[in-house]
Amino acid sequence: MDNNLNIRNFCIISHIDHGKSTLADRFLELTETVPKEKMRPQYLDAMDLEREKGITIKMQPVRINYTLNNVDFILNLIDTPGHADFSYEVSRSLAAVEGAILLVDVSKGIQAQTLANLELAKKQNLLIVPAINKIDLVAADSDKINETKKEMSHLLNVPDNGIFLISAKYGKNIEELLGVIIEKIPPPGGDPDKPFRALIFDSKYDPYKGVIAYVRVVDGEMKTGDKIFLIQNKTSSELKEIGYFKPELLPCEKLRAGEIGYIATGIKEPGKVRVGDTIVSLKSTSQGSRLPEPLPGYKEPKAVVFASIFPVDPNDFDLLKDGLDKLQLNDPSFNFEQESKEGLGRGYRCGFLGSLHAEIITERLKREFGLNLIISAPSVVYKIINKKEKEILISSPLDWPDYSLIKEAREPWVKLEIISPQTYLGNILGLLKKFGGEYIENRFLSENRIILTYEIPLREIIKDFYDRLKGVTQGFASMNYEVLDWRLANLVKLDILVAGKREEAFSKIVPEEKAYSEGREIVKKLKEALPPQLFSVPLQAAISGKIIARETLSSRRKDVIAPLYGGDYTRKKKLLEKQKKGKKRLKEKGKVRIPPNVFLELFKG
Ligand code: GTP
Repeated sequence: MDNNLNIRNFCIISHIDHGKSTLADRFLELTETVPKEKMRPQYLDAMDLEREKGITIKMQPVRINYTLNNVDFILNLIDTPGHADFSYEVSRSLAAVEGAILLVDVSKGIQAQTLANLELAKKQNLLIVPAINKIDLVAADSDKINETKKEMSHLLNVPDNGIFLISAKYGKNIEELLGVIIEKIPPPGGDPDKPFRALIFDSKYDPYKGVIAYVRVVDGEMKTGDKIFLIQNKTSSELKEIGYFKPELLPCEKLRAGEIGYIATGIKEPGKVRVGDTIVSLKSTSQGSRLPEPLPGYKEPKAVVFASIFPVDPNDFDLLKDGLDKLQLNDPSFNFEQESKEGLGRGYRCGFLGSLHAEIITERLKREFGLNLIISAPSVVYKIINKKEKEILISSPLDWPDYSLIKEAREPWVKLEIISPQTYLGNILGLLKKFGGEYIENRFLSENRIILTYEIPLREIIKDFYDRLKGVTQGFASMNYEVLDWRLANLVKLDILVAGKREEAFSKIVPEEKAYSEGREIVKKLKEALPPQLFSVPLQAAISGKIIARETLSSRRKDVIAPLYGGDYTRKKKLLEKQKKGKKRLKEKGKVRIPPNVFLELFKG
């Protein structure tokens, strides 16, 4: 193929579970990209974790060869995740393509992440091909289909007949949809004769080939053996291999302007290759040449949810560091910083985009690196402005300054969008009131569905808010949020004392009005989790040294007189006196060994 007029690059975007991966399956089948005997449902969800959870976590590109009216086309499809916590994956995929299929499940209609992902696609000026999926469902009668059509045509400002009706599961209208993609989505543009320039939109680590960068070639062409230069990271290397996704890596001779593929950089240090960086030919850096303009890259996402990760076996610390380095290459949206905690040893404080993100990364660390880990309950990042007007971000209670140094504390707030049938409005408003949300507006999406906008502290929604929302709407509501700004908060550091000694690992930053209930809850939990000790142990919660809650772990009396039988009173008394003295000595030493499972129990939150 001499030019790139026969290339189409596109994504499938939707709310979670609307059928993106299933639609990708039908494309792969129809075009015989994957042989029939190898085909399995949600083929592009390659990770075990994705298959178990039934969600896409990673974007996955695949090249499809397709002939339409005797013309050969190369279609590069990128399957994307739906969940808001992985929207960085979506935005990176969108920057590598020219069009997107916006898929809506007819039984659910437009949901919160449909809107959020559409917004991202619009920002990239992508051509949108709207499609309604699951029209095979019994519930998908003509009324339901028309209702969803109306919602979409209103949202996208397109006529009803511009919306495609498909069943990804049963392959209905899939061939026609491919035809529309070719007809409507523009070819990639770019100049094959200009010096080489490519955007890294993803990467992963291979022990033999080094860092493998997923690239969208913008100009020029590149072959195996060529020397490259990464503009941002100022790293150079020789290409070990070049190829495209089938979806497995398939080596090829060269990659040209407009194509999507991979390059094996041979670089062994994960930190040297960054997503969003521009790759050019090393020749462009020589004297007398003009370095091509770097591509815009990506706005780095800001981690807002933090959790501590410690290896159960302290000897695994280096393995944990290696795992984090390699996973970050595959998911640059989380960060980590070393920390130490008494009772836990050395570990990392990690920042994530949300609590599902935290859960997935920790699960990947366990599975892909065979690590046994202790993970804290996620919390949000706070901002302190100290008396010298300096701003300090606090992601761990350990860094909380003394109260006398704090001028004010702030916490992140989010804009929360909830889409729900109107019937549940009362229930949702009740729930939001409990969580301290501030009402912004309520719009109609269609005759009986609403979009409710609220502003709410992020801290309130990272725990079980979504489950509660589902609970009060019988599972019909969907939500999406985006971080807005920092707002004043009345925060305190809650300390936990075991036998009078502060255990930093249990400290927490909490809003003052919740300190008493949280404190009570923690000491109660601690009492249940700690093994009995030989002396009674006070378990206390405190703010700035003031005790606000207390439980007592009563002593386990070892039956020292059991071996005696008969009634030798003086002997019994002697033994009990000895035991009493021993306990006193122990108490003075004041050491309570907290087993790792107790940290685990309390960390789970
Ligand atoms: P995420 O990647 O997690 O956002 O999900 P997804 O959008 O990729 O959805 P997926 O393809 O995993 O499909 C979700 C569920 O819907 C699966 O159980 C599919 O079998 C089902 N499904 C997908 N398309 C259809 C369809 O056309 N009809 C019916 N009846 N079910 C479908």
